[in-house]
Amino acid sequence: MAVAAVVVVLMLALAMAPGAASGAPRRSPRPEADLVTGLPGQPAVGFRHYAGYVDVGSGGGGKALFYWFFEAEREPEKKPLLLWLNGGPGCSSVAYGAAQELGPFLVRSYGANLTRNAYAWNKAVNLLFLEAPVGVGFSYANRTADLRRLGDRVTAQDSYGFLLSWLDRFPEFKSRDFYIAGESYAGHYVPQLAELIYDGNKGANRDRVINIKGFMIGNAVLNDATDQLGMVEYAWSHAIISDELYSAVRRECDSFKEEADGGRPGKGCSPALRAFLGAYDDIDIYSIYTPTCLLPATGAGTSAAPRRPAARLVAAPRLFSEHVRASSPNTTRSHEFDHKIRLG
Ligand SMILES: *[C@@H]1O[C@H](CO)[C@@H](O)[C@H](O)[C@H]1NC(C)=O
Ligand SMILES: *[C@@H]1O[C@H](CO)[C@@H](O)[C@H](O)[C@H]1NC(C)=O
Ligand SMILES: *[C@@H]1O[C@H](CO)[C@@H](O)[C@H](O)[C@H]1NC(C)=O
Repeated sequence: MAVAAVVVVLMLALAMAPGAASGAPRRSPRPEADLVTGLPGQPAVGFRHYAGYVDVGSGGGGKALFYWFFEAEREPEKKPLLLWLNGGPGCSSVAYGAAQELGPFLVRSYGANLTRNAYAWNKAVNLLFLEAPVGVGFSYANRTADLRRLGDRVTAQDSYGFLLSWLDRFPEFKSRDFYIAGESYAGHYVPQLAELIYDGNKGANRDRVINIKGFMIGNAVLNDATDQLGMVEYAWSHAIISDELYSAVRRECDSFKEEADGGRPGKGCSPALRAFLGAYDDIDIYSIYTPTCLLPATGAGTSAAPRRPAARLVAAPRLFSEHVRASSPNTTRSHEFDHKIRLG
């Protein structure tokens, strides 16, 4: 009974949704089978959200990618469509991007309910989360062999196939301004998918053209030299390290050029990198303006000096890791510098 009541209330809400009424542009029929009518602990909201599978892969399929789509909070018919991708490789866009970062419902360690996100991106866009490639999150392959044929190329192709089919299911977004955004290893996924779309648009039927306008990547993994230099330049341009230290790192670490490419880091590289990390002792390297807790960690009563939070850099690029580890093999920090890949 309770479920039936919820459905009726929801249908009424749909009938009264802005845009369905006088004058506003007519909306195409929605894939009602994918409509999410409520989640345990979900706060009441004025926008609709949808989730489900889209088959990808040619001839016989056997592969399906999972999506979760949030209409923009207001006037979704006037807002662009944005696809969000987490990285990893292997990170779930639902578990991380949607539930912990930019989605409207956050999962927090306190309380049993979902928490509204004051900074949800569906305030600005229609927000589509995709779990890719198969094997990640709820996305799956029926054939084990498909899980052995993974990589950036397959990820981009399947994500492109997903988008074309998804737009058939949500045709009102077909000509909508379209953006892709992502973080971390999506520094690979995002531009590679954008390129595939750009190339695919050439000579495609009008019906299959995706109106891509741009992409955005944050904390992106591109390549070691670029990523490491980026971290040091960021710290310098935000007054976290001095001009002197910045120059020392660039000079001593030969601007992080790979040794295979002729990079010749000097003896001063490791100490300079440790000094760089030391500058982050009291600062969250992933969010420099966020206050961090400087109180001693629990159990501090057993140690003489209060423990300060060490710079937590959980996905260190390789060269960076090698230098810091080589020079301080026993410290906590060198342990943290090991290749722990944060599945972001
Ligand atoms: C969680 O949601 C339920 C149902 O809406 C509500 O009764 C309860 O008070 C909420 N709990 C918290 C801690 O907000
Ligand atoms: C995978 O196999 C199941 C069970 O046979 C089937 O229901 C499902 O549709 C298949 N998925 C795809 C994407 O082919
Ligand atoms: C590091 O550990 C090794 C082996 O346990 C030990 O011999 C060495 O003295 C330690 N070095 C420092 C700086 O603590």
